[in-house]
Amino acid sequence: MFEIPQITEGIYYVGVNDRAKAKFENVWPLYKGVSYNSYLIVDEKVVLIDTVDVCYSDIFFYKIDLILKGRPIDYLVVDHMEPDHSGSIGLLKQKYPDIKIIGNKKTFNMLNGYHGITENLVEVEEGMSIKIGKRELSFIMAPMVHWPEVMFTYEQHDKVLFSADAFGTFGALDGHILDKDMDIDKYWYEMERYYACIVGKFGPFVQKVFKKLQDNPIEIDYVCSTHGPVWTKAHFSEAMAVYDRLSKYEAYEGACIIFGSMYGHTEILADTIAQAIAKKGIKNVVVHSLTSSDPSDILRDVFRYKAIVLGAPTYCNNLFSPMEHIIHLIELREVKNRYLSLFGSCTWAIQSIKKMTALTEKLAWEKIGEPVEMKMAPTPEVLNKAAELGEQIAQKLIEDRK
Ligand code: FEO
Repeated sequence: MFEIPQITEGIYYVGVNDRAKAKFENVWPLYKGVSYNSYLIVDEKVVLIDTVDVCYSDIFFYKIDLILKGRPIDYLVVDHMEPDHSGSIGLLKQKYPDIKIIGNKKTFNMLNGYHGITENLVEVEEGMSIKIGKRELSFIMAPMVHWPEVMFTYEQHDKVLFSADAFGTFGALDGHILDKDMDIDKYWYEMERYYACIVGKFGPFVQKVFKKLQDNPIEIDYVCSTHGPVWTKAHFSEAMAVYDRLSKYEAYEGACIIFGSMYGHTEILADTIAQAIAKKGIKNVVVHSLTSSDPSDILRDVFRYKAIVLGAPTYCNNLFSPMEHIIHLIELREVKNRYLSLFGSCTWAIQSIKKMTALTEKLAWEKIGEPVEMKMAPTPEVLNKAAELGEQIAQKLIEDRK
């Protein structure tokens, strides 16, 4: 029999899977889809927590109808206004014209801008609560845990924290909803990729809300994010550890070598550096070609590893443009506390190193070794310099073990 899954009795999962969209935000590839999570609380009042991408509103409303059988929804809580969660609010309002919408001041500005809704609003602030029967909802502001209006909603009866994008991952929900029931390992890579691409810029704000939760502890049995599994005590501490590490920009020992190469010569330098690092006993060495690796995977590894090595040819007396793009994406995310090494090539005038040096200045990463320059093709002398650079990078990582 078809049933709508429940997180606890009376809290239904009414989210949807999106395996059709090629790219999230039309930028980031969805290798295994994504879920837009929404939750329906049925108590003396009926409360919907967030909605879903408008493309999935049909199945979303179908699920809600099956549960409510004509009973109206009293409140919509808007924890996050990005359209992957707010997209169906306009249709929801048409279906339930008397619905009251709970949000904060910033939410309502966006609600007006996206949907032209200005009435039946219930404005909440930090710590306020609303009784909905045996349950009571309270609100924790989490600004910039992706957008300025983001807030968390806490339901004290079943100890459920609705956490907006926090603790979210890419990856559709393949049957299971709760982390404890599924093979959770398949989500860790996607969680890091999601964090690096979507939340990556906002590490200090993630830390701020974590501190708030630490200073004002609440009992939590379920964490209901807007994307991916619902976390229980089975795996929440692991999800928390991932978000904590990434939002502090903490890195594992390892090197991420990112290169562009038009005819393969610069790639030889990348491999030479990688082999020299590996030979010194550094286990984590990843090499990304800017042409074949997606920026989302590259960003994931920039967040993951301590030593970042950038190498590219000179192009039109400037820098190979995919390198400029990836540096821009890294800089946007204000990634901190990394080591930086450079290598570059040209046929007649070396510009790439000069440009990479200038573009990475703002990052203020510690430089390891001298940039390795190559004219045209590698010579034994250039390869030796590349190997020496690799050894210096490895040495620095090894010293950090002490
Ligand atoms: Fe899943 Fe920031 O929206």
